[in-house]
Amino acid sequence: MKQVVVLVGAGSIGIAIARRVSAGKRLVIADYSFENAKQAAQMLDNAGFECTPVEADLGSKESFLGLVNKATALGEVVNLINAAGVSPSQAPVERILQVDLYGTSVLLDEFGKVIGEGGSGVIISSQSGHRLPALPHEQNEALATTPTDKLLELPFLKEINDTLKAYQYSKRCNVLRVMYEATRWGRRGATINSISPGIIITPLANDELHGPRKEGYLKMIEGMPARRAGTPDEVGDLAEFLMSSRGRFISGADFLIDGGCTASYWYGDLQYLKSTH
Ligand SMILES: NC(=O)c1ccc[n+]([C@@H]2O[C@H](COP(=O)([O-])OP(=O)(O)OC[C@H]3O[C@@H](n4cnc5c(N)ncnc54)[C@H](O)[C@@H]3O)[C@@H](O)[C@H]2O)c1
Repeated sequence: MKQVVVLVGAGSIGIAIARRVSAGKRLVIADYSFENAKQAAQMLDNAGFECTPVEADLGSKESFLGLVNKATALGEVVNLINAAGVSPSQAPVERILQVDLYGTSVLLDEFGKVIGEGGSGVIISSQSGHRLPALPHEQNEALATTPTDKLLELPFLKEINDTLKAYQYSKRCNVLRVMYEATRWGRRGATINSISPGIIITPLANDELHGPRKEGYLKMIEGMPARRAGTPDEVGDLAEFLMSSRGRFISGADFLIDGGCTASYWYGDLQYLKSTH
């Protein structure tokens, strides 16, 4: 049986990770834009990877059950990379919760049932989740353990009415969900972790850096310890380590890779952002 890597979200971060862990394996590239999936597959085919593009919407359980079936028909799924998501400026509250919070939870749940022995996965969360203050214990537990079908009915999620909060709760939920799922994935001999990137230069971030919010972005970059944005390859390097044989003792953990931006947000030059972010 061929080993299969499933990449959800054919953006720059997802592709950087996939390139590092997919040599010699079948790479399934899922995206709700089939065009994006096909383009990524073509580029990676030309770099020696064996790719299968698939159209799948992270916001739809049916769509993802279809993806699980397609991936398992191709071989044994040994790696899962979730780098799909919608940002606060791209979608309304309901869609952000549906895709980033619920969809990611379904993905962890369903691939946790088929992941191969010795397998590993990474979920791309965000530094945004680290900008929420500590949540009450009951909310943490509810986000981590509520059955996926009931997640969006949680009363405190129903009260969210701005897109930034929806994104922050979703990304916090990703991290908590990964902890919970690590206990289940572990029974199959597999690890699962999350990565919380800061500003990473992708087409989306580049738009921000050259658009109307340019000044605010540049000021944020100036105020963080690294004094620059990150690159998808740096996230790829971290993910590669977590998914390699050297990362076998790491599971259920979250890794900030943000040039120190979160540190500055809470305790340094970026504290002015607390009133708006
Ligand atoms: N770029 C950054 O600065 C940054 C920072 C922190 C977190 N992130 C997170 O990283 C992840 C990837 O971001 P990126 O910058 O590579 O973005 P991107 O826009 O380059 O890639 C995202 C991909 O996901 C796909 N996608 C969106 N919604 C989908 C859905 N419902 N189902 C399936 N596919 C879907 C898009 O078509 C796109 O190909 C996101 O979860 C984002 O929140 C990015």
